[in-house]
Amino acid sequence: MGIIKPLPELLISQIAAGEVVERPASVLKELLENSLDAGATRIDVQLEEGGVRLIRVGDNGGGIAPDDLPQALARHATSKIASLDELERVGSYGFRGEALASIASVARVAITSRHASQSHAYRLRNEANAVEPAALATGTVIEVADLYFNTPARRKFLKTEATEFAHCDEVLRRMALARPDVAFSLSHNNNQKRRLASAEFSRRAREIIGEDFFPHARPLDASAGDLRLSGLAALPAYSRSGRDEQYFFVNGRFVRDKLLMHAARQAWADILHGARHPAYVLFLELDPAGVDVNVHPAKTEVRFRDARGIHQFIFHVLQRTLATPLSAASAATDAAETIPANAPSAFSYARQSSLAVGEPAARPYLDFARSAFDGAAVAAGDAVSPSPTFVQEGSAPLLGYAVAQLQGVYVLALNTVGLVLVDMHAAHERILYEKLKNSLDAGPAATQSLLVPLLLVVNEAEMATASEQQETLTRLGFAISPAGPRELAVRSLPALLAGGNAVELVRSLLKDLAEHPASRVIETRRNELLATMACHGAVRANRLLSLTEMNALLRQMEETERADQCNHGRPTWVQLSMSELDRLFMRGR
Ligand SMILES: Nc1ncnc2c1ncn2[C@@H]1O[C@H](COP(=O)(O)OP(=O)(O)OP(=O)(O)O)[C@@H](O)[C@H]1O
Ligand SMILES: [Mg+2]
Repeated sequence: MGIIKPLPELLISQIAAGEVVERPASVLKELLENSLDAGATRIDVQLEEGGVRLIRVGDNGGGIAPDDLPQALARHATSKIASLDELERVGSYGFRGEALASIASVARVAITSRHASQSHAYRLRNEANAVEPAALATGTVIEVADLYFNTPARRKFLKTEATEFAHCDEVLRRMALARPDVAFSLSHNNNQKRRLASAEFSRRAREIIGEDFFPHARPLDASAGDLRLSGLAALPAYSRSGRDEQYFFVNGRFVRDKLLMHAARQAWADILHGARHPAYVLFLELDPAGVDVNVHPAKTEVRFRDARGIHQFIFHVLQRTLATPLSAASAATDAAETIPANAPSAFSYARQSSLAVGEPAARPYLDFARSAFDGAAVAAGDAVSPSPTFVQEGSAPLLGYAVAQLQGVYVLALNTVGLVLVDMHAAHERILYEKLKNSLDAGPAATQSLLVPLLLVVNEAEMATASEQQETLTRLGFAISPAGPRELAVRSLPALLAGGNAVELVRSLLKDLAEHPASRVIETRRNELLATMACHGAVRANRLLSLTEMNALLRQMEETERADQCNHGRPTWVQLSMSELDRLFMRGR
C-alpha cells in the first residue's frame, strides 16, 4: 500500500480556504462584496476582538430565499454566473460560489435573511443543518464567529486585535471609496468607529483619506474608446513613504495590480523623489470582457486583454493631469486653489542660490550646520571664504572647495582635477546612514530628549505598530508613547537626526515596522530601517546652504565610507575633469 493517500474532504476544504480566508479582514471583504452584489444601499458592520471573535455584516439588499440558504454555504454554488461566457464578462464582485463555504469551514457561520418574496426571515447555521424561521425586517445578516476555532495553528498567525481591526478598517475604507452611494457603519467592541452617509465621491474621499491630501489633489476624468480613468491624483508636494494611499479600482474592484501601479509610478517618476510614493484614488472602467478578474484567489490582481494600451492610457492621462500648470488647474478645481500662490518655482531657487555664492555664512545657517553636519570640519570651510577660482595642485582636499549651490540641489566645488558636482541630499543621507550604523554598533543610540514632546495624529495601524514595536523603537533611539486614542507623543529621538523632519521620520519608520514581526525586525531589517531614518534626517533639496555648510559637507563625505553611492545606489557626486571640460568646448582639438 502506498503512503500517498487522498486527504479527507474537510481538510481539503480548509486548505483551499486558506487562500480566501487569510485573516478577519479577508472575511469582511467577502461579506461586503456579497452585500453589494445583493444591491444593498446600507451596510452595517460590527466586529469584536479584531473580528476574530465576531464579524457581523447586515445589509438591506435583496436577501436569500429559504430554499437557497443551504446552497449559499455549499462549495462552488453561486447565483451570479452560470457559464464560462458569463464569467468572461462578469460584472459582480462574486463568481466562484466559494467564499461562504470557505469561511464556514474555519468559523461558525449563521445566515439570517429575508428574501423580498417572503413574509418573514429564515436562519441557517452551518453547525445545525435545518433552516429555521427568524426575525429580520429586511436584507441579510451574516455572522461569522470564532474564526479558526477548529484550526488553532492558523489562529496563531493572527496579529494583535488592534492590527486585525486596522486591516478590517482598511477593507471597509476601500469599499467605501468605491461605492460612495452606499452608507456604511463600522463598530469595534461596541464602539462606533465609522459612520458614512451616502455621499458624493469627493465628500466620501475626504472622509476616508483625510484633509491633508486634498489641498494637493488634482481631479481627473478622461476617456478613450471604452476606457475611462477618473479620480484624484496628488501633486508631488504630497507624497507618502509607503503605498498606503494608492487606491486603484478596476470596474469598482480594488486591485493591487503591477501593470497599473507601474503606469502610475511612471507618471510620477520625473517629479517625485525615488524613495517617495505617490498618493491617488483612481477608477479605471472598461468593458468587463476586456479584463480577467479570475487570476488571483483574493481577486486583487487582474489581467487585461490589451495590457499595453491600458498602460499607455493611464500613464498619459496621469502625466497630463500632473503637468497642468497650477493656474489652469485652479480654475478647474477648488482643491488646487488652496495651493499657495507663492509656492516656490525653479526660478526663485535659482535667485536664492546665486545669492549664496561667495557670501559669508549667515547666522541661521550656522545652527543648521551644527545640527545637520554635526559641527565637524567647519574650520576648513571657513578658511576658503571668499570662494576660490583657482586651485593649485596638491593644495586642495579630494572633493575640493565649494563655490556655489545650484538650484537648491547640487553643490559645485573646485578641486585639483577640475569641477565636482555633489547631490547634497544624497550625500548627506549617506553620511547619516553610516553614522547611524556606527552609533548603533557602538551600543545604545545616543538620544536627544525633546523639551516639548512632538505630537502626531496617527491611524489605528500606526498606533498598533508603535505599541507592538516599542522595543525596537527604543533600541533605535526613540521614546514614543500614546498621548490619546489617536495621538502619539515623541519624547526623544536619535541625536543624529534631531535636525530633520521628525514627524515624517516617525511616520515612515512606523510604516516600515508595520510590515514585519516585532521580534526580529532589528536583526533582519536593521539597514533598511537606518536608511529610512537617514533619508528623513538628511538635508532636503531647496535648502539654502552657506559656503561653510557646503564645505563641511564635502569634508564629511571624504571621511565617510562608501560616500560616493547614496543609499539608493545612485552616485552622490561626479567629477568633471579639466580635459572633459575642454572637450565640451572643443578646446585643443
Ligand atoms: N448578503 C447577501 N445577500 C444576498 N445573497 C447573498 C448574500 N451573501 C451571499 N449571498 C448568496 O450566496 C451565494 C454564495 O455566496 P459566496 O460569497 O459564497 O459566493 P459568490 O459571491 O457567488 O462567489 P465568490 O466566491 O466569488 O464570492 C451568492 O452567490 C449569493 O447568491
Ligand atoms: Mg461572494
